[in-house]
Amino acid sequence: MRIILLGAPGSGKGTQAQFIFKQYGIPIISTGEMLRTEVQCNSKHGKKIKKIIDTGNLVTDDLVIALVQERIHQKDCHKGFLLDGFPRTLSQAHTIKSYGIKIDYVFKFCISDELVIQRITGRRIHDKSGRIYHIKFNPPKIPNKDDLTGETLRIREDDREEIIYKRLSAYHKITKPLISYYHQETQKDKIKYYQFDSTKSVTQIHEDITHILDDKM
Ligand code: AP5
Repeated sequence: MRIILLGAPGSGKGTQAQFIFKQYGIPIISTGEMLRTEVQCNSKHGKKIKKIIDTGNLVTDDLVIALVQERIHQKDCHKGFLLDGFPRTLSQAHTIKSYGIKIDYVFKFCISDELVIQRITGRRIHDKSGRIYHIKFNPPKIPNKDDLTGETLRIREDDREEIIYKRLSAYHKITKPLISYYHQETQKDKIKYYQFDSTKSVTQIHEDITHILDDKM
């Protein structure tokens, strides 16, 4: 099972990725998480990546493709994987296709820019596990503490409102063309394309996804 999660920043890709992983054991390949891990190393390379992410721009295709390619070849990905936030440019999509990497599903999350702002400004994350909360829509049991470890939650550096507008602009200009690309691919390949309404609750979207995946497993 090879799945791409496609959608604007804050559309719920990471939240649903965690549910799919829990339910089906499909490993998550989140390029955003992988890049943030590089940044934490504080190497020269990591510092360059941080500058790009913190200004709301996209990291170069070569770098992201290299990270994904290496991850995909690890043992746990042999039976499938969940690509969260990748591909994000037409060039990334063409490259994985040229490597012979077949995709079964593209799940697209639909959301307005206004809701993206609400979702991202209220997001809180647990660094070590990647667990995602929202102060209003998906609050932790104890305010600002991770449900499982009790550790303090954090706001992502790139979740400041002025940066969100830049990330949205990158999404509209560079990532959105992937929607028609994958529509065309469904005609040629056996890729199945589904859209989800991100205004629905986390649970409802999870159920919609489960319905699709349970049918095929
Ligand atoms: P990345 O980490 O991938 O960020 P993103 O795509 O901008 O997406 P987000 O993580 O912000 O949102 P999400 O869709 O996962 O939403 P979430 O589930 O958290 O990328 C970060 C940066 O890395 C990029 O800007 C770029 O610089 C770089 N990068 C990454 N990949 C790259 C690539 N391929 N190429 C080049 N550069 C790349 O939900 C958001 C909030 O809403 C949460 O608080 C959650 O609790 C809440 N929520 C979720 N669903 C619901 C719901 N249904 N109802 C109510 N609340 C909800």
